[in-house]
Amino acid sequence: MSNKYYIKTFGCAMNFSDSERLSTLLENYQLKSAQKIERASLVIFNTCGIRQMAEDRVYGQIHNLRKNYPNIKIILTGCLSHRPDVQFRLKNKVDLFYKISDKNKIKNWLNKNYPKAQNPKSRTKVSHQENIAYLSVAPKYTDKHQAFVPIMTGCNNFCAYCVVPYARGREVSRSAEEILMEIKNLIQKNYKDIILLGQNVNSYCGTFKGKRIDFATLLQMINNLSGNFWINFISSHPKDMSDKLIKTFTSLEKVCEHIHLPIQAGDNKTLKRMNRKYTRMHYLKLIKKIKIGFEKNKPGKIFSITTDIIVGFPGETKEQFRKSAEVMHRVKYDMVYFGQFSPRPGTTAWNMKDNVSKQEKVRREKYLNEILKKSSYANNKKYVDKIIDILIEKEKNGFYYGKTRTAKNVKLLIGKNKNLIGNFIKTKITKANIWNLEGEIIS
Ligand code: SAM
Ligand code: SF4
Ligand code: F3S
Repeated sequence: MSNKYYIKTFGCAMNFSDSERLSTLLENYQLKSAQKIERASLVIFNTCGIRQMAEDRVYGQIHNLRKNYPNIKIILTGCLSHRPDVQFRLKNKVDLFYKISDKNKIKNWLNKNYPKAQNPKSRTKVSHQENIAYLSVAPKYTDKHQAFVPIMTGCNNFCAYCVVPYARGREVSRSAEEILMEIKNLIQKNYKDIILLGQNVNSYCGTFKGKRIDFATLLQMINNLSGNFWINFISSHPKDMSDKLIKTFTSLEKVCEHIHLPIQAGDNKTLKRMNRKYTRMHYLKLIKKIKIGFEKNKPGKIFSITTDIIVGFPGETKEQFRKSAEVMHRVKYDMVYFGQFSPRPGTTAWNMKDNVSKQEKVRREKYLNEILKKSSYANNKKYVDKIIDILIEKEKNGFYYGKTRTAKNVKLLIGKNKNLIGNFIKTKITKANIWNLEGEIIS
């Protein structure tokens, strides 16, 4: 049996980051990463339970893998792993179900199934790590310039539609010392884009030298680290967005001029049924404060605002849906991640009547997407002829692809400018499209 593993990651950046930590754990067992799934003896599905579609993809892929490669061992972890119905359905196809934070469970399984793979050195390392949260495991970063750094995990909010509090448990925050240490190491390795992760980063509640600190203070501390790097963070919850935090993130020099602030719905009754704990007015006031904050603290700099909206939440009438459209007209988002409501077992909304038809959900999403196209294009046009910094991320077919501090994708001709991946490059924006920008390198 080969000692190779392959991780299939579904879902959000948090899962992606979890997989990076899982890679380290597996490599401590002398397992090596396989380039292709069929070359592996062990395949781990790090799953997402946010929508039925994400769930169905996992069932399909596990079924095919088991059929075509009966000897491959399969582990299922992530946000579906806690569900008894999922475990029942896949019991003959999956060798181990485990919660991503349960390092003991996977370690015991590896001890049994890969006994020869252990060496005393790596065993000592794993057992040393056992007693600290899985977030302390040093990740095997996938990218060389952009790194996800979880600052907290879990969620206390129990939005009616969402599986996250059930899948990931309650909020826990890492200590500032541990976060700062991870980021310092990344900066030394020339990482340029540090993306802080948490289901609700605004309610970060960690410690520094034994004293409680909030997210604004953590941002300030990261900003104080020396080095040339950007700070980004996702996701924020409108109910926990304080004036102090707005002032902090709109003014710190390394924090990028982009905020992702999910609204989910523009109608108060729908927000209440969703258990979001804020009103449309509260949200719009926050947006106003954020816009004023950026204009005052970073005058002349373009900033961007993105959000998540669910269409077709149970009982959402056409009138209530129009309130989401209205908010979009007012805020003029740069990007919106739409989700057609998908009932999730175990959540409060599972027991509500999913009474908006699939066809109507598709129609509502399309309608909002047309509004988004207009605001995104209008916002993108503001960049034309401006000279801005781009972080070059990859190259393909004679072009570089990079991103701005406002999370816009930019396409640039490589020309004579070789080997720029991972660098900040001054760029003149020459063209605005609906979903991206084009530019030319000027330095
Ligand atoms: N913590 C973030 C917040 O408060 O907005 C969101 C995290 S959630 C993992 C990502 C997004 O998935 C949500 O913002 C929501 O729009 C969408 N989502 C979650 N559950 C959903 C469901 N049952 N149906 C459709 N979309 C869903
Ligand atoms: Fe889910 Fe709500 Fe928590 Fe976000 S805040 S992860 S939507 S329960
Ligand atoms: Fe992320 Fe999906 Fe879990 S969006 S937190 S992987 S349910």
